Amino acid sequence: MTESLPQSAIVPPSDYVIIGGTGDLSLRKIVPALFLRYVAGQVTDDFRIFIVGRHALDLAEFKAKLQPHCREVMAGIDNAAKLLDQFLRLVEITRIDMSVANSMVGFADTLLAKAHAGRPIIFYLSIAPSLFGVACRRIDEAGLALPQSRLVVEKPIGHDLKSSQATNDELLSTFTEEQIYRIDHYLGKETVQNLMALRFANVIFEALWNNRYIDNIQITVAEIVGVGGRADYYDKYGAIRDMLQNHLLQLLCLVAMEPPARFNADQVRNEKKRVLEALRPAKFEDVVLGQYQEYADEVGAATTTETYVALKILIDNWRWAGVPFYIRTGKKLATRASEIAITFKNRPHDIFAKNGIRGGGDEEIPNRLIIRVQPHEGLRLLLTSKEPGPGGMRLFPSELNLSFGETFDERLPDAYERLLMDIARGNQTLFMRLDEVLAAWEFIDPIVAMAQKQTPLIYRAGGFGPEDTLFGNQTYGWLDPKEEEA
Ligand code: BG6
Repeated sequence: MTESLPQSAIVPPSDYVIIGGTGDLSLRKIVPALFLRYVAGQVTDDFRIFIVGRHALDLAEFKAKLQPHCREVMAGIDNAAKLLDQFLRLVEITRIDMSVANSMVGFADTLLAKAHAGRPIIFYLSIAPSLFGVACRRIDEAGLALPQSRLVVEKPIGHDLKSSQATNDELLSTFTEEQIYRIDHYLGKETVQNLMALRFANVIFEALWNNRYIDNIQITVAEIVGVGGRADYYDKYGAIRDMLQNHLLQLLCLVAMEPPARFNADQVRNEKKRVLEALRPAKFEDVVLGQYQEYADEVGAATTTETYVALKILIDNWRWAGVPFYIRTGKKLATRASEIAITFKNRPHDIFAKNGIRGGGDEEIPNRLIIRVQPHEGLRLLLTSKEPGPGGMRLFPSELNLSFGETFDERLPDAYERLLMDIARGNQTLFMRLDEVLAAWEFIDPIVAMAQKQTPLIYRAGGFGPEDTLFGNQTYGWLDPKEEEA
């Protein structure tokens, strides 16, 4: 009899200190994720959550702010209201003005008075990156940069190689690299982690996973939403820095990396970094930029910030030489769809060619593996089959479909749930190491410079993005409405 594995790993009781805890990211993502882990039993009554903000707020006011963001996650939980109240007993709200020297000293007394020695203290900087340095100083001067302390930051960590290095230097002046957790929330997504399982826990794909059998790879992250209330931030960054530098390059790394010897933080990140270092500098003609029609009105000024980017990337190494990776992401497109489509080369010789039938001769039906990151998470393998019945060898495209939604009864956890628990467990595998971040900027900086010399093509909201020709007829129909309805 096989022993059943526990559903979730034990997480040591920890103190989360969310600096900027009354802000948008905290209310939308961080606190709801902790609540869901509380409901799952991973966050226990021994945890403490300190919400650090600039404004005085009591728990009732905090709850009122939080509730709209928890409504959706609470819908599927029995006794959700009662559980939320129990969870909120772990929360303490503290007003600290980080701009004032020594303003964390009093808080340090509260924190350390109850903390057992060595218990993880997790500082989550949910604030503007320009304040990262100041926050680190406050933590340090309050004597809270202890060996068990951890620091969590999210992008944007700089807007180019130089500023990223400078911001990281600020973090590293207080914490060591082993204490810093740089979040790319795409790495916390279940399907993204499953990509590693697909590649490295199965044998059938590895033999084909190279330039001998793969024709091209397309990575798409399409969004329906526009920039909404984030125009101030977004207009300074654009799609290249907001999405390509991090989420899309991380997906590319996971698809392209060599198998690490062990599934641990150093080895996985070493392999990802090797991919980033092998990227061939992009060419001007391989980059297409777009901007959705209403964007300038939303921002309130004429601007050339791109809300869509598509580019062709080549990886100069033995495995991938000559295989184009087509990457694209955009806002206000027809649908929300993130997926990786791997198109295999055609059969070397077509024994059905002379039959003059569908799928024979000139008409190619390449095999494709489609990894659907979100929504409708799953895998599809496109094959060629024989149409049943007499009348000769009629071929047609068929597919093997593994829908995670249908296969697993349980809800797929949100990326932040996984990442927040990994931080408490001290597992950095799904976080970005400094050298990875810098290697990504090294690739991106010249693309940003090229983008500044281009005017983005205007595209209609709710459509397919600009009519670029970059992908030619290789484009896989990610926006095919028939598929979306299916
Ligand atoms: C964020 C970007 O990192 O990712 C946003 O700043 C983007 O612009 C978001 O909308 C997309 O994340 P998800 O999880 O909704 O695909």
